[in-house]
Amino acid sequence: MADSEGSPVSAPTTGQMDASGSFLTDKSYGAAIALIIAIVVPLVLSSMFAGKKKLKQRGVPVQVGGEAGLAMRNVRSEKLVDVPWEGATTMAALFEQSCKKHSQHRFLGTRKLIERSFVSGSDERKFEKLHLGEFQWETYGQVFERVSHFASGLIQLGHDPDTRIAIFSDTRAEWLIAFEGCFRQNITVVTIYASLGDDALVHSLNETKASTLICDSKLLKKVAAVSSSLKTVENVIYFESDNTEALTNIGDWKISSFLEVEKMGQETPVPVRLPIKKDVAVIMYTSGSTGLPKGVMMTHGNIVSTAAAVMTVIPNIGPNDVYMAYLPLAHIFELAAEVVMLTAGSSIGYGSALTLTDTSNKIKKGTMGDASMLKPTLMASVPAILDRVRDGVVKKVEEKGGLAKKLFNIAFQRRLLAVDGSWLGAWGLEKLLWDAIVFKKIRSVLGGDIRFMLCGGAPLAPDTQKFINVCVGAPIGQGYGLTETCAGAAFSEADDNSVGRVGPPLPCAYIKLVSWDEGGYLTSDKPMPRGEVVVGGYSVTAGYFNNEEKTNEVYKVDENGMRWFYTGDIGRFHPDGCLEIIDRKKDIVKLQHGEYISLGKVEAALASSKYVENVMLHADPFHTYCVALVVPARQVLEQWAQSAGISFNDFADLCGKKETVSEVQQSLAKAAKDAKLDKFETPAKIKLMADPWTPESGLVTAALKLKREQLKAKFKDDLLQLYA
Ligand SMILES: *[C@@H]1O[C@H](CO)[C@@H](O)[C@H](O)[C@H]1NC(C)=O
Ligand SMILES: *[C@@H]1O[C@H](CO)[C@@H](O)[C@H](O)[C@H]1NC(C)=O
Repeated sequence: MADSEGSPVSAPTTGQMDASGSFLTDKSYGAAIALIIAIVVPLVLSSMFAGKKKLKQRGVPVQVGGEAGLAMRNVRSEKLVDVPWEGATTMAALFEQSCKKHSQHRFLGTRKLIERSFVSGSDERKFEKLHLGEFQWETYGQVFERVSHFASGLIQLGHDPDTRIAIFSDTRAEWLIAFEGCFRQNITVVTIYASLGDDALVHSLNETKASTLICDSKLLKKVAAVSSSLKTVENVIYFESDNTEALTNIGDWKISSFLEVEKMGQETPVPVRLPIKKDVAVIMYTSGSTGLPKGVMMTHGNIVSTAAAVMTVIPNIGPNDVYMAYLPLAHIFELAAEVVMLTAGSSIGYGSALTLTDTSNKIKKGTMGDASMLKPTLMASVPAILDRVRDGVVKKVEEKGGLAKKLFNIAFQRRLLAVDGSWLGAWGLEKLLWDAIVFKKIRSVLGGDIRFMLCGGAPLAPDTQKFINVCVGAPIGQGYGLTETCAGAAFSEADDNSVGRVGPPLPCAYIKLVSWDEGGYLTSDKPMPRGEVVVGGYSVTAGYFNNEEKTNEVYKVDENGMRWFYTGDIGRFHPDGCLEIIDRKKDIVKLQHGEYISLGKVEAALASSKYVENVMLHADPFHTYCVALVVPARQVLEQWAQSAGISFNDFADLCGKKETVSEVQQSLAKAAKDAKLDKFETPAKIKLMADPWTPESGLVTAALKLKREQLKAKFKDDLLQLYA
């Protein structure tokens, strides 16, 4: 999923997911070599190149209403799907029916905390370490009971069902229980990222007049700090945790624990008040790249249609699947994924990015991470995390060096060919061999049973996609969607191993390309039609809360009553009907002489320089050239300085040196040349920034994407200097 103007995708960033298992023990070397000689040599000799595979049609053109353009639909569904099965027209109905169908089957799992301890780091700081036990499961039937109790409890507590409830918490089982509970009373849920800043928190609660706030006990402090600005809040319900601090009074709020509310409802049930399809289920606040966050209004119909559509693209999804939940639920990608799991009757095990693997930051040494304990079959991820996994494995391989590295490289290349379909007979025996001696250990980091990965949030780099594909041994489904399209827009299919594309439209939506003349992207372009990506159909949301102007700007209703959302992304259709995102409308700037420069494209090219950790290109219509702010990769730069005999006091000092700037600039020029960029696209001047850009500093999103406006504002003077 790419993000729309105001809706970047969030991802855990503080978590270190280190997927680098030690995949070769010394003992296995001898046997491995023998096996390789015995099996690979004859295989190589007998392998033949397969003929060029026939193109499988995945999307087909379709005639639809609205603005002229080229529209595509999923090849499998002549009519758009709106529900997973008849009668499941709202989240409340879908949930109830699924719980009935799977009542004895395990549904939500949470790990038991065995021990919390602290170790001191090198710099006096203490680091929390957790020893977590097995997953404790509740069945669909049990969860349904809890949801019903909670729904009644809300009313008993005094919540006025005509007002909204906000959830402000990290991902956990109670998040989903509270969420579903609200729908049994037709209450609209406001969701807010746990990482959102105070202003945004106050804004979203105030704007929606939320009268009840449900939050994590550890976020209570943050809420208390701004309590005087939260005029509409009357009730606060907190999720218990093992170290909930004694709660003092906050304002005149009525504060209850989640369990207390459940108990109230259990003792005194209240009749349900069910919503209909077009009622607003969620107002989802997304951190914008500029200004205050916008609340996207999602109807029940939007969410169930996305669930229905995604069900059709995950092969054989069902009750035997186990899903690892750890991304933020306040984000549409994770929310949609969990709704899909409950639609399919799968089990959901909750973890966190900080405890995901055996070597994760918060996992006590020698104890198991969430994934190895859960052994999930399905998992969602975002590119930033997969990049980290890849780097972790590569680093481990490099450290081992020697035979282990050689073996890994042979195995990797062989599997890559097989995955690409270039070699016949490459599946079967040889696959077993490589799995046994090389990949099994890597896979065990994620539990060893992953059979399909969902990836969204941002475009996945092609080589990361291949790398993960080979190492995890499972296809990666790349999704494209936005909060405004309730995630559901496009999704790549399991048997499609091409890279860099996001698949055909999901069966709940059409995707249309509309020519953008000024930017030079036309549907008449050859060899592929190009244009702005416009999404229409059941998953397209009702618009921005309390912001009709902005809604009318980017949403249009056609003559048939279908809603279309203008994403601002530029895409092209491949001959098989798959979409590829190639640019972003607002990231294209016209220089003084009229050349268009695509900031994202150039930044991606410059990032291949070894000196670049982060880079922001800047261009404007008043100049003929562009400039760049570069956060250098510290280690690499310091190594260079050492070998070049340059002495410096600290990193900032090094970054300020003329020689350093010149060295990095040369490297950037080379990267630009390698990517065949034009001269005007290569930054004429650069400045090195010693301090990294982190989500905490507000300069990049949680998914590590640049926040241009914030960066431009913060480094205004530096940019001015570069143009001087
Ligand atoms: C809260 O909303 C009201 C309007 O509903 C507005 O007048 C007020 O300024 C807002 N307060 C904050 C702190 O955003
Ligand atoms: C659900 O609640 C909304 C907002 O309060 C209301 O407009 C709608 O009519 C309700 N739906 C039903 C079926 O009562």
